[in-house]
Amino acid sequence: MPQLVRKVHHVELVVGNAKQAAYFYRKAFGFDQVAYRGPETGDHARASYVLRQGDIWMVLTTPLHHLDPLNIWLTNHGDGVRDIALEVDDVDAVFNHAVEAGAAAAAAPADREDELGAVRTATIGTYGEVLHTFVQRKGYKGFLPGYAPTEVRGLHTGLTFIDHIVGNVEDRQMQRWVDWYDRTLGLGRFVSYDDKDISTEYTALRSTVVASDDRVVKFPINEPADGLRKSQIQEYIDANLTAGVQHIAMHCEDILETIAALRANGVEFLAVPRGYYDNLWDRVGEVSEDRARLAELGILVDRDDQGYLLQLFTRPLQDRPTLFIEIIQRRGSNSFGKGNFKALFETIEQEQAQRGNL
Ligand code: FE2
Repeated sequence: MPQLVRKVHHVELVVGNAKQAAYFYRKAFGFDQVAYRGPETGDHARASYVLRQGDIWMVLTTPLHHLDPLNIWLTNHGDGVRDIALEVDDVDAVFNHAVEAGAAAAAAPADREDELGAVRTATIGTYGEVLHTFVQRKGYKGFLPGYAPTEVRGLHTGLTFIDHIVGNVEDRQMQRWVDWYDRTLGLGRFVSYDDKDISTEYTALRSTVVASDDRVVKFPINEPADGLRKSQIQEYIDANLTAGVQHIAMHCEDILETIAALRANGVEFLAVPRGYYDNLWDRVGEVSEDRARLAELGILVDRDDQGYLLQLFTRPLQDRPTLFIEIIQRRGSNSFGKGNFKALFETIEQEQAQRGNL
């Protein structure tokens, strides 16, 4: 079977106040604001701001009318990811394949047009209340039809593309969704981590990564596992009411510069546990980055048999402990930082305890 999905086209977040959220993502993460849709462009129901940095496209949407069902979405989940849109070569073929394989149809294939041309889109539902919109660009020049271009420049922080997007699903539902992605979108199992890999003294989770054949699209799926205390995945599910997107990992080419810029902009990151760097270099060996600078910026490092990676996780980006962003730079490694899981989860647990959720 030919690969069905090419890459993540954009991620759409529903937020309570898109104007302010756009300001936050522009100022904190350095996105350009490249397009807008709202009353001024003829859409009186919703306002959407399109942000771009490198090949990362984010849309921030807010409902304008009290009867809009997106208000219920916001009541249930708070600000979060509603749609992981995927670029495809043939919308009808992918949509029909997915629906025949059991995916819930949310919008049938249709052309969307404006004076710049046409794209063809269709939408299915995945875990929780998250959607996948398929986008067949057909050479369309702008972002998508219906959006007016804007030119608000951000101070770029070196983010280049979406490396992976993680979903949290309910207890014992991970395998079901792994099978679902294989059946509907041809995303096969890439790697699994069990609760022995990802557990601390108190809490645990299991994770399986599904990926496209070329590994461009990578979706890890987490589920809570039993521990002495509440899993961070269960804390997410409780705050989000259901399954949903836990984090978006954004790649960069110089993590020292990127993290320094993000910290200067006020982005809050998970604290590195005390003692993390004491035995790190024994574990990961030689790296080309300056070790003292990595420690100063609190960047995590992990190695596998193919190389190493550097990563760091923001704290949740809204008041509910739900969505956060990972900054990642790969130097050969194709994995997800297994060696950092334990250290990291101890930090997350400290924060969970401060919220009274452990
Ligand atoms: Fe990640």
